[in-house]
Amino acid sequence: STTTLKTSDHLRHVESMSTLPSGAGPISRLNAVILGESLASEEDHLVFPSEAFSMQAHVPSPQKYLETYARSIEDPAGFWSEMASGFFWKERWGPQVYAENLDIRKGKINIEWFKGGITNLCYNCLDRIIESGDGDKIAIFWEGNEPGFDGTLTYKQLLARVCQLANWLKDVGVRKGDAVVIYLPMLMELPISMLACSRIGAVHSVVFAGFSAESLAQRIMDCKPKVVITCNAVRRGSKIIYLKDIVDAALAESARNGNPLDVCLTYENESAMKRESTKWQEGRDIWWQDVVPKHPTTCAVEWVDAEDPLFLLYTSGSTGKPKGVLHTTGGYMVYTATTFKYAFDYKPSDVYWCTADCGWITGHSYVTYGPLLNGATAVVFEGAPNYPDAGRCWDIVDKFKVSIFYTAPTLVRSLMREGDQYVTRYSRKSLRVLGSVGEPINPSAWRWYFNVVGESRCPISDTWWQTETGGFMITPLPGAWPQKPGSATFPFFGVQPVIVDEKGAEIEGECSGYLCVKSSWPSAFRTLYGDHERYEATYFSAFPGYYFTGDGCTRDKDGYYWLTGRVDDVINVSGHRIGTAEVESALVSHPQCAEAAVVGVEHEVKGQGIYAFVTLVESVLYSEDLRRSLILTVRNQIGAFAAPDKIHWAPGLPKTRSGKIMRRILRKIASRQLDELGDTSTLADPSVVDELIKLVDC
Ligand code: WT7
Repeated sequence: STTTLKTSDHLRHVESMSTLPSGAGPISRLNAVILGESLASEEDHLVFPSEAFSMQAHVPSPQKYLETYARSIEDPAGFWSEMASGFFWKERWGPQVYAENLDIRKGKINIEWFKGGITNLCYNCLDRIIESGDGDKIAIFWEGNEPGFDGTLTYKQLLARVCQLANWLKDVGVRKGDAVVIYLPMLMELPISMLACSRIGAVHSVVFAGFSAESLAQRIMDCKPKVVITCNAVRRGSKIIYLKDIVDAALAESARNGNPLDVCLTYENESAMKRESTKWQEGRDIWWQDVVPKHPTTCAVEWVDAEDPLFLLYTSGSTGKPKGVLHTTGGYMVYTATTFKYAFDYKPSDVYWCTADCGWITGHSYVTYGPLLNGATAVVFEGAPNYPDAGRCWDIVDKFKVSIFYTAPTLVRSLMREGDQYVTRYSRKSLRVLGSVGEPINPSAWRWYFNVVGESRCPISDTWWQTETGGFMITPLPGAWPQKPGSATFPFFGVQPVIVDEKGAEIEGECSGYLCVKSSWPSAFRTLYGDHERYEATYFSAFPGYYFTGDGCTRDKDGYYWLTGRVDDVINVSGHRIGTAEVESALVSHPQCAEAAVVGVEHEVKGQGIYAFVTLVESVLYSEDLRRSLILTVRNQIGAFAAPDKIHWAPGLPKTRSGKIMRRILRKIASRQLDELGDTSTLADPSVVDELIKLVDC
């Protein structure tokens, strides 16, 4: 079922479109399309917001978008100063609103926004909202794993809880600039911990609670926190995960490597595990419930510079070592708040739910900070979206009257497979805007989401962005213009995307190539923690003069952007970014694995699956046990989400004469495109390809 377009109602949208930004051609073609030219391809398929929606939207027309966009590009300092003025600044930023050098040929890469401005993010999220009179508004609706297990916090209550923790952190010696690692599931204590850090100027580094002890240890050793905050265990679906055991192992590993940690604050998550059964290291481990509630519910704010660090978040790159993406305070605050407001058309009466975990950037910018900065009411969900059954999300939507629902395509696809009955059983009348993030959303999933979940009433904001960008970069503004299923549409205010060819030359108009960004935006990451050279090499050297995103992209004849996936050695599994090198290094750490090469393959639900070619050491034989043990090694070293979907036994790997693995060939074998292997004559030993093909279905 697809949407039928009521053309006449919407002509006004199109008529008001003149030219779209950044190389887009005249929009007049849209007229032809909706006036009845055949819809030749996905590119031509337009889905319009209803007139009623557009009329109430912050950005009601393409014209309004174009005006605002043009202003944001012509006068970034003026535009962003105006946006920033909505927040509390103890001292206003200096005369230079921003400074940037994105051109490696001109020296060190440098980005600064609102430097000299003195503010505090936690103050702006909580105190400012309370002072405006909204202190009794609900900040968080918390929903536990088990239906019926829930809680709420108003802005005032949240501030009190944040202050108690902030005071405890100060008591144990955490000071401005110190790192705090947070390894928690989606309890209210997770956003509380983030906010407490930002209140006292500490730099949080949240590690997704699905990462293994090894990965956690690696991050702890890199940023050397004063404190780790965790809980003893959590229920997720029908499973219990013993997080404290994982932390214990990570801390032991970190201590062995000369980085002992003094304080591990542990929340007793009673519904999953009693404190009596939790392993304990006296002197180091402290129960949250024993100390935090005893602290005062008010805590003075540590005023910080806009350019002081706010958080570190580790993400995967094309080498084995995770990258500590560093975000600073002022620009991040202004940008996440502004994008949240416009991309979701947020209004004070909305109830917002983002299903992401705070362990990823989405949870930082659009579970915690963006919504609170807008004084929004947000749902925080501890459980799994298919537990107790595939209707859980819509049950929660009805329960809290969620009006903005933001999730990942992988969840949309997995729910779509379960059948419409799980959706239609619930009312969902409260929904008005839907969102998507993490990977390109395929048009069929888009249509199901739009037609079934949103009953053809709710625009979909398909937000393209990255851990590095801090906030939305290319995204629809619902109500502003017709959408195309599968396209992230147009750049947000202030963002100048460019598409370049292999030589780094900008291509205009309709084209495909590498997606870069010209000039900075307020929430751009400032460095990779402790490794500015890697920052410059990874992001600013491939195409000098630009920030290189690592994504491929097409711009169609109407100027819409279509993200086509990563062009580097990063795979996107269920919206989680995984470096092939990380999985390979985990595999080769197995004593019976001699060599491994990992590629992404299309996966019906996950978007991409992990496909590993494995060469065993001499005289070891393939076996089912060995396969399981290899997969377990990856789970233990990275986390369950990085476990390979397929192990392909490889007597040898296709390499060039200089020893470089030819992944192009491996990708074709993995996706069974055996007639498209291309030229194999440059291989050192072309016969390895035949050997691999023989083992295709073993
Ligand atoms: C990569 C960034 C941004 C939060 C979640 C992932 C892919 C993300 C989209 C989208 C197409 C997308 C890109 C990007 N991606 N959103 N709407 N359409 N691709 O953050 O782990 O930093 O991964 O995710 O490939 O580079 P991340």
